[in-house]
Amino acid sequence: FTLEIDPEDTDKGAYPYYMLKEIDEQAVVARNISGHYYDDEGNLQGIDPEITDAIKKADRLYIVAAGTSYHAGLIGKRYFEQWAKIPTEVHIASEFAYDQPMLSEKPFFIFLSQSGETADSREVLDNVKKQGFPALTLANVMNSTLTREADFALPVLAGPEIAVASTKAYTAQVLVQAILASALGNPGFDLKAELAKVAVEIQAITDEKESFKKIAESALKDQHSAFYIGRGLDAAVALEAALKLKEISYIQTEGFAAGELKHGTISLIEDGTPVFALLTQKKTAGLLRGEVAQVAARGANTIVFASESLAKDGDAYVLPEVNELLMPLLAVIPAQLIAYYATLDRGLDVDRPRNLAKSVTVQ
Ligand code: G6P
Repeated sequence: FTLEIDPEDTDKGAYPYYMLKEIDEQAVVARNISGHYYDDEGNLQGIDPEITDAIKKADRLYIVAAGTSYHAGLIGKRYFEQWAKIPTEVHIASEFAYDQPMLSEKPFFIFLSQSGETADSREVLDNVKKQGFPALTLANVMNSTLTREADFALPVLAGPEIAVASTKAYTAQVLVQAILASALGNPGFDLKAELAKVAVEIQAITDEKESFKKIAESALKDQHSAFYIGRGLDAAVALEAALKLKEISYIQTEGFAAGELKHGTISLIEDGTPVFALLTQKKTAGLLRGEVAQVAARGANTIVFASESLAKDGDAYVLPEVNELLMPLLAVIPAQLIAYYATLDRGLDVDRPRNLAKSVTVQ
C-alpha cells in the first residue's frame, strides 16, 4: 500500500522514523521538481535567463559543498560537462575555504546545500565574493544565508528534511542540477519525459522495502565493516551509499572507485565482508564484474545492484532502467533503504545518530 505523503508535511504521520518517510517522498519530490521547472508544454521555466547568461560567460564551474551535497555535486558535474560542455570541478567546502585551488580566468561558483547554512560553504562564498566571482546557490531552504548572499539562487524543492541522514535532498539536488544543465545545453534526449520515468521507478523501488530489509538483515548482521563499489557515476553514488550506511548504523563503510581496490583496500576483505556493487554504467560493467569476482574470490559476500540491461543471475536486485546518466537517482535508493533497515535492526535511533547535526553551522 502507498501512504499519502506530502513532502511539505513535517509530521511523521504513520511512519516510525522521518528517514523512511523522506525516502518514500522521493517520487513525489521528483514530480514536484518537474512541475516547478517545466510548464505544461514541456518548456523549461523558473530559471531566470540572468542565471544561464552568467553561467555561459564562465569558462569553468566550481561546485562547492559538504557531506551529502558534495556527493550530489559529483553527479551534477557530469551533466554540466556532458550536456552544457562546461568544465566542472567539485570541491569539499572545508578544504576549498583554506586551500583555494588555482582558478580559471572566468570561474562561476555553484553552492549546493540542503540547509543553506553550512559554515564551511558560507566561508567559501564569503571568500569568493571578496574576489568578485559570481555565485549561484542551489538550496533546499530558501531564504537561508547561502541563498541570500549568493548572486543567484534556485530552489531544490525537497520539502523539509528532518532526519539527520539526508535522502530526498540528495536526489532533489541531482534532479535540479540535471535540469539546470539542460537549460545550458542539450542532453540529447527528452529530459522531462525521462524524469517522469525516474519518478515512477523511484516509486517502484521504494515499494520493494521488504527486499532491502532482508538484504540489510542478512548481509550486515554482526558485520563491522562494509564496502560500496562502482565505477564512473556509480563510484560517486558509492560514496553517498557508504555515508548513509556508516552515519546511522555505525558500520564502518567505505565507498570506493572499484578499480582502486586492487591498490590496497582489497586487503581488508575477509570471509563474509559485505561488498555492495553498483552496476549501472555500460562502459565499465565488464570491469566491475571482474572486480566483484576478485573480492568474491577473497571471501567477500557480494551484493550486486545492476540495471536491467546489465543484470545477471545471482544479482541481489535488478534496478529499473532509465537513461544511464540518471541511474544515480535510482541506484541510491536501495542504499538508503539498506542503511535504514540495518540501523533499525541494530536498535539504534535512525533519525538522530550520535555526534551528528542536521546543519553544521560551525567550521
Ligand atoms: C551535515 C548533515 C549532512 C549534510 C551536510 C551538508 O553534516 O548531517 O547530511 O550533507 O551537513 O549540509 P548542507 O545543508 O550544506 O547540505
